[in-house]
Amino acid sequence: MLDQVLARLPRPANENVLVGFDTSDDAGVYKLTPECALVQTVDFFTPIVDDPYTYGAIAAANSLSDVYAMGGRPISALSIVAYPADADLEELAEILRGGYEKIAEADCVVIGGHSIHDAEIKFGYAVTGLVHPERFITNAGARPGDALLLTKPIGTGVVSTALKRGFARAEDVRASVESMLTLNRAACEAMLAYEVHACTDVTGFGLLGHAREMAVASGVTLEIESARVPLLAGALDYARQGALAGGLKNNRAFVSCAVERCGDMAEELEHLLYDPQTSGGLLIALPERDAAELERSYPAARRIGRVRERGEKPLRLLP
Ligand code: CO
Ligand code: CO
Ligand code: CO
Repeated sequence: MLDQVLARLPRPANENVLVGFDTSDDAGVYKLTPECALVQTVDFFTPIVDDPYTYGAIAAANSLSDVYAMGGRPISALSIVAYPADADLEELAEILRGGYEKIAEADCVVIGGHSIHDAEIKFGYAVTGLVHPERFITNAGARPGDALLLTKPIGTGVVSTALKRGFARAEDVRASVESMLTLNRAACEAMLAYEVHACTDVTGFGLLGHAREMAVASGVTLEIESARVPLLAGALDYARQGALAGGLKNNRAFVSCAVERCGDMAEELEHLLYDPQTSGGLLIALPERDAAELERSYPAARRIGRVRERGEKPLRLLP
């Protein structure tokens, strides 16, 4: 939504803007000195779990993620709070504590924030990070021949939807929450040891939505082998039972025209590839030899496909 409206504004005429709003990248990058640039991003959302502490912590992990996706190191954060005037302040205190501790886990620090009264709770952070102005990673550098790695399983959207509808298994919900709570920090640090060509984090647009952005920005086709995509436990079952969030259907309606389907695959698996993720993993394009080493040094990173010369469509989906 913001993309469409921002596109009406002139591009910022400022030579220090290294990444601005005119590319659909994860965060903005602003050069301070020849050695140092700021990476800035903001994210907030309505509660996705019942426990306020966990909600705050997931919101923090999710907000930090865009800095990691650019290869940056988060340094400070501002909280963004919308909270009902008549709601229990103890619950808000727990949300803030969960966020604060997750931000601290990232060796980042909360230095302020802003709150308003709102009928619906919303919470998140604006995060500032640092990166070298010649060494940040965008979604625009994927090259034909690169391998594609994904660092977290997908399915947080369908698991949350199944939970809301009352048929999610407790252990599947726990695993999904655990995944959302996991910082992309270790994945980021692991990938920075190699020659990464492109990276983005998988969030609201789902795996295929974010893959499409990378393909278009890089001028290539991303080929994804569905059967290799790591899935959260239960996700396939819940998708089969129809636990598809509104966001999944929107993603599919928007992205599917960019997908060339090669061969047959189970419909529920295809649905999952459009499932909106909260605090999802990093999608990384890097040379084959580096990919093999990254798989060894960071075993959660799974190979899900490869980069090809730009073909008929930005995405090719294999069974
Ligand atoms: Co992002
Ligand atoms: Co974001
Ligand atoms: Co203020």
